[in-house]
Amino acid sequence: MTTQRRLTMSLGEALFTQRAIRRFKQDPISDEDLGHILESAIRAPSGGNRQPWHFVVVREANLRTQFAPLYREAWWAKRKDEGIGGPEDIPAKLQPAMRLADEIGQAPVLVLVCATSKGAGAIGSVIPAAQNLLLAARALGIGGTITTLHPQVEERVHQLFHIPETAQIVYCLPLGYPRGRFGPTQRRPLSEVCSYDQWSRQA
Ligand SMILES: Cc1cc2nc3c(=O)[nH]c(=O)nc-3n(C[C@H](O)[C@H](O)[C@H](O)COP(=O)(O)O)c2cc1C
Repeated sequence: MTTQRRLTMSLGEALFTQRAIRRFKQDPISDEDLGHILESAIRAPSGGNRQPWHFVVVREANLRTQFAPLYREAWWAKRKDEGIGGPEDIPAKLQPAMRLADEIGQAPVLVLVCATSKGAGAIGSVIPAAQNLLLAARALGIGGTITTLHPQVEERVHQLFHIPETAQIVYCLPLGYPRGRFGPTQRRPLSEVCSYDQWSRQA
């Protein structure tokens, strides 16, 4: 079946319910559905249509187990950069992300969304593909979220997955069937974040 035919959820439903999913069932994602998700990712636009992306799709439990402590270290390194010392200083809204830092290895699939070269141009061209990927996953009932690493662990993550030095890991996306529900998302109202013709001019 083609990806286009497989993705029957309306765009509206996918857009309005694709929220961050951080807890996963152990059910595997079929290779076929992974293929549809990745086919959707590479339909994204990129600067000059250069498509400077590479996706490392990690399914092997052994690799996910080795990655998990590196992700945890990265998550806490980011908190340290923000002046946050330990779990007692984590605000309620960051607690689901803190839990993911302990549990990411349990996601049945991790996708490292990479840019094939370093620099803002290539990285910016990879971001739309990540969102396409998450929307297609949502349409198949599969959840995930965008996460980032930290320079402190970068070299070790490159080594673990044999990622060339010239490439940049942009995001790590854990994927799986959700424990819990999708959307709706909580967002500031359009009137606060949008103006017409000139900044701060309301419609
Ligand atoms: C650039 C970026 C970085 C993010 N980094 C993390 C992360 O490191 N860990 C995490 O659990 N969620 C991360 N998120 C997910 C956001 O926290 C989440 O999308 C946001 O809080 C809105 O929640 P919702 O998608 O459930 O509505 C990131 C999202 C973006 C766009």
